[in-house]
Amino acid sequence: MGIAQDILADWHASHAALLWQIDLGIDEWLLDDPINRHELADPVKPVPVVAPTTTAPVAVRRAAAPAPVIDTPKVDAVAEARASAARAGTLAELRAAIDAFTHCDLRRGARNLVFADGLPGARVLILGEAPGPDEDREGRPFVGQAGQLLDEMFEAIGLSRAAALPGDALYLTGVLPWRCLGNGEPTPGDIAMMRPFVERHIELAAPDFIVAMGNAALFALTQTRGVARLRGQWTQALGRPLLPMLHPDSLLRTPIAKREAWEDLLALEARLAQ
Ligand code: URA
Repeated sequence: MGIAQDILADWHASHAALLWQIDLGIDEWLLDDPINRHELADPVKPVPVVAPTTTAPVAVRRAAAPAPVIDTPKVDAVAEARASAARAGTLAELRAAIDAFTHCDLRRGARNLVFADGLPGARVLILGEAPGPDEDREGRPFVGQAGQLLDEMFEAIGLSRAAALPGDALYLTGVLPWRCLGNGEPTPGDIAMMRPFVERHIELAAPDFIVAMGNAALFALTQTRGVARLRGQWTQALGRPLLPMLHPDSLLRTPIAKREAWEDLLALEARLAQ
């Protein structure tokens, strides 16, 4: 191999190793040895001011002028998200607007933007939380184990993301389009920043009913938490009926709660039949 090929092979190996670490949830490097920053010498030494004497020729050394304060304009990311979302007239434009939105740092740790799946215009829209590793890899929401469970649950009441008719179909999206670092919970800051896109997404997809899956989804649409307590209780968001449900991730962790999820599905089925 020539030098150029060696460099390229190194680059690919390093890139693959980095992606593997991201998959493991590593998002921060720590040094082997701790640094006590209180013991470090102050790197900015003040320049001494030499007092003028009356005998010697006057030689005044001035203190270094303070660095000019550069006034960087503050970006109101939420206002920018709102303006950008409002300009989107179609789902394709909304996707492009999110793709072009650079203020949310999560995008830097994600492989793919996860926008939506299913049928736009479906009567039921499911709002999830944030993509996990599988969704991040595929660029589609709810494709891992939790997604499989979600598909089975909704197929039990005759709804599917693959259906062609709005009455039988699901449309799936999430509060955040990018995976959270270390697979953490979506933060209130990230939710607030991306909420204008979520609201516009729901407007453009125009469902009759929204299912908020998990706390982040419930919080994004109603500013309340406590999905374990509020699940199954119909409320309103964005002028539409909203049903909070437990996220399939939590059903996988606590299978006994599937009984409650089944009650919620039957409640949804009854509303659809009215
Ligand atoms: N939100 C979720 O909860 N899961 C996904 O796969 C995508 C968004």
